[in-house]
Amino acid sequence: METLTPGRLEEIAATFAAHHDIGRVIAALVAGSGITLAVPGWAEAAEVSYHAIFPFPHHPLAGHTPSLTLLRKDSLGLLVFNGRFHLYQGYSAAEVAAIPRLAGLLGAPVYVLTNAAGALDPSLRPGDLVVLEDHLNLQGVNALVGEWALWRQPRFPDMTDAYDPTLRGWALAAAREAGFTAQAGVYAGVLGPSFETPAEVRMLRALGGTVVGMSTVQEVIAARHMGMRVLGVSLVTNLAAGLSDTQLTHEEVMEVGTVARPRLAALLRHLVARLEEEINP
Ligand code: HPA
Repeated sequence: METLTPGRLEEIAATFAAHHDIGRVIAALVAGSGITLAVPGWAEAAEVSYHAIFPFPHHPLAGHTPSLTLLRKDSLGLLVFNGRFHLYQGYSAAEVAAIPRLAGLLGAPVYVLTNAAGALDPSLRPGDLVVLEDHLNLQGVNALVGEWALWRQPRFPDMTDAYDPTLRGWALAAAREAGFTAQAGVYAGVLGPSFETPAEVRMLRALGGTVVGMSTVQEVIAARHMGMRVLGVSLVTNLAAGLSDTQLTHEEVMEVGTVARPRLAALLRHLVARLEEEINP
């Protein structure tokens, strides 16, 4: 087991590309807690466990089956990452960022991530989707610290449009076409794994957060540093602490993921079709 370095990650990407016919990769999709991503019309060309790809020690989490699925359609490729690495599991920020960095090295121009999140906005309900327009990095780390910032230019990436406005527009339109409304919002990224206290929820709301979760922000920073366009979609699994009478459990988060799957699937189907059109007009 090793420490992940930029050189090692480049070798990992080269090995993957040498063993799999990845085609022209149009996007990477990342599935968060309890979320399964299926893209109809695409054929599964390979499924590789994260253990076989990433050389660092793994910290398994119940409910996640971590693997990378390669989907193909004609000359095009899609990378579907089933499960992610979280800081709260004990992964470093560089390890958390290994997924977007691998996607970028394999040529993905677009990084689409989904996650489970708690609602800070009391008008949201479990099962709602929030299309991310910005984030608050409250995790106390940054995936670019140290040698990673020097690996790619710029060392100090601009984060103004970290979440791509065009992709966001497509996602919001896709939701309308599929017959449900999704709102745009700000993701407050915290370390976890304890859920927030009611006072912390009031603070996050006052800071401008719409939803709160324990992932995403490191990946988005790394993805932007790699030059990928980012779309983030949060699946609201619960009202954040203090906004409802019930106690929060990990099981609740996983269950809503199962129930809201068709909405998310509809949204992603539409998005992938738009990306195909953009590439093969
Ligand atoms: N807080 C933080 N992370 C979460 C939550 C929450 O309420 N729900 C799902 N992930």
